[in-house]
Order: sequence, then C-alpha cells, then structure tokens
Amino acid sequence: MASLGVNLDHTATVRQARRTVEPDPVTLALMAELGGADGITVHLREDRRHIQDRDVELLRRTVRSRLNLEMAATAEMVAIALKLGPDMVTLVPEKREEVTTEGGLDVSAAGDGLRSHVQQLQSAGIPVSLFVDAEASQLEACARSGARWVELHTGGYADAPAAEQPLELAKLVEGCQRARQLGLRVNAGHGLTYQNVEPVAAIEGMEELNIGHTIIARALAVGLQEAVRQMKELVSRPRHEPLFGEGALLQNPLSLDAVAQP
Ligand code: PXP
Repeated sequence: MASLGVNLDHTATVRQARRTVEPDPVTLALMAELGGADGITVHLREDRRHIQDRDVELLRRTVRSRLNLEMAATAEMVAIALKLGPDMVTLVPEKREEVTTEGGLDVSAAGDGLRSHVQQLQSAGIPVSLFVDAEASQLEACARSGARWVELHTGGYADAPAAEQPLELAKLVEGCQRARQLGLRVNAGHGLTYQNVEPVAAIEGMEELNIGHTIIARALAVGLQEAVRQMKELVSRPRHEPLFGEGALLQNPLSLDAVAQP
C-alpha cells in the first residue's frame, strides 16, 4: 500500500504573494497530518520563492509524521539539510526560470559531486532520494551513487494525452521494477491528480507518492484536511482493475462527490 506525502509549497506561494505571514505552512502541515498525510514535503529553493528557512526549521520541530526536504544538490543546501536533519532529502534539478521542477536529475551525467552529496547526507543518517525519469540508465546511475531511494518523475504520465497514458504508465511500472531489482526503494510524484493517481498508487513496490498542486487546489474548495483525506483514500486503496479500456479508471475521473463518500 502506497503512502501519501503532501507537498505544501503552494501554501507558501500564497503567503509570499503578499510577503505576509499567512497562510502558514507550519499550521497547514498539522491539518494535512490530521487528514492522513504520511509525510510532509517542502522544497527549499535557492531563490526562496515560496518555502523559507524559517518554515523548514519550524516544520522540523512540529511535523509528527515525516519531513521530506526537497532541494537542489548544492553545497549550501547540503549544509542546511545536515543542520536540520529531515527524515529524507529528495534531490531535484533546479532552474531559476522554471515554474516548478521540470525534468528529473541527469544522474548518469552528474559525476562525483552528486555522489559526494549523497554520501555526506546518508552518512549523517539522512536517507537520500533522487528524482529521476523512469529510465534504466538513470536508475542504474542512482544505484551507483549510493542513494537508497528514487522518486520516479510522473510528469510524463500525467501530461500525456489519454491514448499515450498506458505507455507512460508502463514505463513507470518497469522503472519501479528495475529500481527495486537494483536495491532501490521507490517513491513517485509530479503532476498527479485525483483523476490520474490510482494506477500509479497501484504499482507494485511503490512506497510513497508526493503530491502538492492538486491537493492545495482542492483544499480551496473543501479545506486541506478534507482534501488530504480524499487523496489518502485513493492512494491507499486504489481500484486496481480495470486500468484502461471500456469504463476504465483513466476514462472515469472521480467526481468530488464520489471521492467524498465514506
Ligand atoms: N515531487 C517532486 C520532486 C516535485 O518537485 C514536486 C513539485 O514540487 C512534486 C513531487 C509534487 O508535484 P505536484 O505539485 O505536481 O503534485
């Protein structure tokens, strides 16, 4: 059964739009946990456009589930993570001009710098996850880096036209299998929604899904605790069959009402 990591970056984006004190991701992390979040994820970006240093410090002291710190593989961020001691670090590529994380890390091309960041963090007891596309060459490079986890990039699946989704899903299934053969543990995320999450949650060996935008969007309508509860239901109890075809899951997006039923 997959668990749910709730990404709270967008709550900080709203706050930073006015450079004020509300909404506070620290308070909202508690609401997400009350809704069933198994973990809280925040991305401390180099430009501090949403999550601030103060947020990660307070979240470290208040999160009772697990704190996953998403960050770029830089010396500055590694120093912050070593001081903070999150339950996991997820290394992602970061570009100032991007709206959100775009692609996965190119671990095969990354070389010794990345390996040394992974080693520094893991020898301090912080497991490292590498955000990558579900490609065999990347997964093999992840295993060589010494990282214990990968987060498979689900953006290709989420953004694919309906006709191509089965192929994109198959890549995730294969990637998950390959990663596990290599001894890696597997999370996934990016672009997952209430409509497309279940086939990914049903992948054998998938441990945690990191989901942000769709939950925060729904929270505006129903409140964060309820939005997390609805997503937790889908992630922890995905309907396995049928995934595709006549009347299948991917052509049958759940309505808000359907999800809200106990
Ligand atoms: N995983 C990673 C590595 C991400 O960068 C993001 C976006 O910050 C997510 C998961 C969550 O993506 P979304 O907001 O589209 O659910």
